[in-house]
Formats: sequence, structure tokens, C-alpha cells
Amino acid sequence: MKVLVIGNGGRESAIAWALSKSPKVEKIYVMPGNAGTGISWENVDISPSDQEAVCAFAKEKGIDLAVIGPEDPLVAGLADQLSGAGIKVFGPNQKAAQFEGSKAFTKDFLMRHHIPTARYREYTDLDSLKEGLGEFGFPVVLKADGLAAGKGVLICQNEEEAVRGAEKIMGERAFGDAGNLVVVEEFLTGREASILCFLDGKRIVPMESAQDYKRAHDNDQGTNTGGMGSYSPNILFDDEALVERIEKEILTPTIEGFVEDGIDFRGVLFIGLMIENGEPKVLEFNVRFGDPETQSVLSRLETDLSDIMLACVEGKLDEQPIQWSKSPAVTVVMASGGYPDAYEKGKVIEGLDAVEDAVVFHAGTRLEDGKVLTDGGRVLAVTATGESLEEAREKAYRELAKISFEDGFSRSDIAKFDS
Ligand SMILES: Nc1ncnc2c1ncn2[C@@H]1O[C@H](COP(=O)(O)OP(=O)(O)O)[C@@H](O)[C@H]1O
Ligand SMILES: [Mg+2]
Repeated sequence: MKVLVIGNGGRESAIAWALSKSPKVEKIYVMPGNAGTGISWENVDISPSDQEAVCAFAKEKGIDLAVIGPEDPLVAGLADQLSGAGIKVFGPNQKAAQFEGSKAFTKDFLMRHHIPTARYREYTDLDSLKEGLGEFGFPVVLKADGLAAGKGVLICQNEEEAVRGAEKIMGERAFGDAGNLVVVEEFLTGREASILCFLDGKRIVPMESAQDYKRAHDNDQGTNTGGMGSYSPNILFDDEALVERIEKEILTPTIEGFVEDGIDFRGVLFIGLMIENGEPKVLEFNVRFGDPETQSVLSRLETDLSDIMLACVEGKLDEQPIQWSKSPAVTVVMASGGYPDAYEKGKVIEGLDAVEDAVVFHAGTRLEDGKVLTDGGRVLAVTATGESLEEAREKAYRELAKISFEDGFSRSDIAKFDS
């Protein structure tokens, strides 16, 4: 079978890697890919935003399964175009992708189906928005409705900050059209966790749990990033009563709501949660795998990923067993100095060949004259598994220490707990 993986990050590297373990998969194309995917498989220099070119390529090569990694092409309707061209696609259609493309769409869905979430109100003009900022007290959360590359959520401690935030999103249009509508949301306290689920249009099957680390530096200091590391399984999910509540109060009504609303979701739903006193509430939905949770979670998958993805596409998840390894996994990201703010690219990455006991998933890398160079903020993710979380963690850090590039940094506290 010939597979096309669309995207170029660590997530897509992990998806391609997991698919490459399948004896049924004979060829993997990654579009546009990075240095690592080009070395292991074949990169295709076509932009996922050029839907016509993507479809033409898939038809010409006889692609049996296309997997769309990132949210932008999903929200832009690439899945609809590909399936219209007769290609099997893992990834939701444009209607279902609105759960990530519009925060207000998700809030409305959650409310109508009585799924626990923060109270909210939506605004389309700056004056009414400013008047409504205090409704839920402070701190308050302001969310640009549309896609904003993870930057469109502002947590405002007091009225002054909230007014400034409102002006930033709607007045200065800091996130462009994504801020045409603003969701004002009650601030929730608790611990954050996320669950990745496979969906086949009628069924929802959660994957093994994971925890990601969003802040740039140790002890959750520094700016929010795309994610600096992850581990799986998440210790929060040792709590069986919590897992049951998530199933009953969130997963079941979500899939029932999708069916009732005529939303045919085939792909991965990422559910962001806030948990306090054993009570889970939905923060957001994303419509794809999370990065870097995917690296840890897929490292523990024992079932052929191509079988699971085809079962999702064909609406047959009930016939598809899914097995996970008991061995925990730890993923540590190596980033460019300065990330998530300004950073330099083009640094030579040394030591990749010395890694023996971990998988290196490339993200922001490119190949030039046989050398692997940095080409983004998050450069690599190093994932190791072990008998215990501690062993996986030690391995990941031991292997990561063999790799270096100028100004590179990583967190030293991924999967480390105060004892
Ligand atoms: N209602 C809320 N209460 C407290 N924190 C929130 C709330 N909504 C979002 N956050 C925080 O902001 C982060 C980003 O919000 P999220 O809805 O996940 O949007 P995105 O990932 O698109 O930026 C969350 O991971 C969480 O830390
Ligand atoms: Mg989020």
C-alpha cells in the first residue's frame, strides 16, 4: 500500500514512522516533509495548501491512504478534496474540522450537548466585547475564534488587561480574521490533560493517555510553546473514577452529538481538558494528533497503524482491535535558542548517528549538502521507551545528550516528578 503523509513536523515524522512498521505499507511519501522524513522515506515538494496539486499527485501515484497531520489543511477542506478525487483520507472533512477552526462552534456544540465546559459568551464587535469582559469575573480568558497558531488565547488577570486584550484581538486585529469573533470564557483552575481519540464517524476510541509540557523552560517557566516534551501514560489517568467520568460525561455525549448533528468525523479528535477535584471540563477540541504527544503515544502502539486508520476511514473501528505496549514513553524536544520568540536557523546538527536507544523524530530540519541543518523552532524530538517511566526518561535524556547544535536547548524536567 502507498501512503501519503501531509505535513512537516515531529507529529508527521511520528505518523510516518509508525506507518513504516506495517508490513502492508510499501511506500511512504511525506509532503512537504523535513530532513528526517526525506532520509527515511520520500519527500514531496508540494504545499498542502495547493489542494489541486496535492490531489493530482495522489491520483498520479495511486495513493491508497492519505493522512493529513496539521490543522490548517483540514480546516481548509483538503480532506474533502482528496476524497472527492477518490482517495481514502484519514482526517476529518471541513465541516468536522470546524471544531478546531472555530472556538465558538465548539462551545456551542458542547453547550447544546450538555458536555461540561467553562461558561462563555461570544462577541463580534469591540464595544459589546468590552462591556462583557467582567461577566465571569477575573481572571478571564479571551479567545480569538479562528486559527491563530496557538497564540490566540489570552488569559487576562484584571479588567485593564482584558480591555487591552480585547483591543489587541478585535481592534488591532493581531490575529487577522481569526479575531472577527471573540469568545469570552470563565477562567478554570485545575490540572490540564489531553486525550487523543480515534473516530470512525460513529465510534470514538481513546488512545493511551499522555501529558505534554507547553512552557519553554523547566518548572513550567517561560513562554507557551508548541510543546517541549511529553510522556505516556499520564499519571493523572491512574485515577479510574476520573477515566470513567471522562468516558461518560465527555466521550459518549461527544460522539452522540456528532451523529445527531450530522458531523461525520473520521480521524483523530484531541480533547483538551481541565480537571479539578476529579471533575473534567473540556477546554477545546483539536481535529488532529497533538505534537509532541503523538511521538510518545504512537511509540507505544503495537497494532498496525495503517489498519487502524483504514478502519476509521471505512467506519469499521468496532472490528479493529487496538493494542498498546505497557512500557511508558518519554519524548524530549530540542529547540532552537530563543524559541518560541526569534531564533536563528541553519545550524549544523551533530551526533544524530550516535543515537542507539531512542527514536529521533525530525521537525524543523532540512538537508543541505548531506548535512542536517536546523530549520525551525522545534528541531527534533527524542523518544525512548522503558520498563518504567524513570527508565524511559533516563534513556531519552542519555540519547539526547549525544545530539547537539549551536544554541539548542531542551527542558530537563520532562516526566520528572517531585519525590
Ligand atoms: N477557560 C480556561 N480557563 C483556564 N485556562 C484556560 C481556559 N481556556 C484556555 N486556557 C489555557 O489556555 C491554553 C490555550 O487554550 P486553548 O483553548 O487550548 O487554545 P489553543 O490551543 O488553540 O491556543 C490552554 O492550554 C489553557 O492552558
Ligand atoms: Mg490548546
